[in-house]
Amino acid sequence: MTKLKIAIQKSGRLFEDSLKILKECGISIENGTEKLKSVAENFPIEIFFLRNSDIPQYVEDGVADVGIIGENLLYESDNNLEVMLKLGFSKCRLSMAIPKKEEYCGIQLFNNKKIATSYPKSLKKFLTDNNLNSEIHTISGSVEIAPNIGLADAVCDLVSSGNTLFSNGLKEVHTILQSQAVLVKRNNLIPDVQEILDKLIFRIKSVLNARNNKYVLLNCPVSKIQEIAEILPGMKSPTILPLMDKNWCSIHSVINEYKFWEVIDKLKEAGAEGILIIPIEKMVF
Ligand code: PRP
Repeated sequence: MTKLKIAIQKSGRLFEDSLKILKECGISIENGTEKLKSVAENFPIEIFFLRNSDIPQYVEDGVADVGIIGENLLYESDNNLEVMLKLGFSKCRLSMAIPKKEEYCGIQLFNNKKIATSYPKSLKKFLTDNNLNSEIHTISGSVEIAPNIGLADAVCDLVSSGNTLFSNGLKEVHTILQSQAVLVKRNNLIPDVQEILDKLIFRIKSVLNARNNKYVLLNCPVSKIQEIAEILPGMKSPTILPLMDKNWCSIHSVINEYKFWEVIDKLKEAGAEGILIIPIEKMVF
């Protein structure tokens, strides 16, 4: 039976959320952390648990058909892969950082300096694009200690909360790249595999839409229906249900997470009462 082969991180910042999104797609995966490969019971998919930095090459070479990686790694690896979906988790940025006590006067500061990084190609692109001539020290981990031990003047590293930089006496001064997890695929998938991928993408989109939206129920005077419906356009248009009290009705709709508080304030101002907000399990268009 044809299966879609997907590569995900075996450990690290993307591992848990990658598994979580597949599980929320209803894909049942048995995973011991020592396992290299797992087959889903209820969806034609094989999951390969691989080292993060190996995933782009394995996908390009056809060992896997698709992979979940950070955009930062895609940028660094320069493989010929197509981004199918941004997945909204593992958000971070690739940034330049210098010792806290140093004054920052712009990117010229990096000229003729030693910079430590685990992302030499991305750093090289940044330096070339800005006509900066700096020495790159490639190290595979703990980049943030490089300035403290005299190995480098600055670092180019991933930043998420900023805690790692802060606790090593560094400050972020310039962002090279914003990153999040993405689903990538190789070229020339056979039609049967592409069909499975299309089904997976459809499910992932339903999960992401549900994560980004909430179901809202409220009561309002009948005289306010028009005003409130304009604030809450919903997927097609809001549902309006009568209440026992003929002067009142109940309105049901969907609101986007990002506009949530702004919309709630407007609803209250327009006369809505008893507003209930409910998480959505899946949202299928
Ligand atoms: C990155 C980066 C920092 C840390 C920053 O490492 O190299 O060590 O995350 O995160 P923070 O801003 O939330 O403190 P990652 O976890 O990707 O693993 P790595 O050490 O293998 O690079």
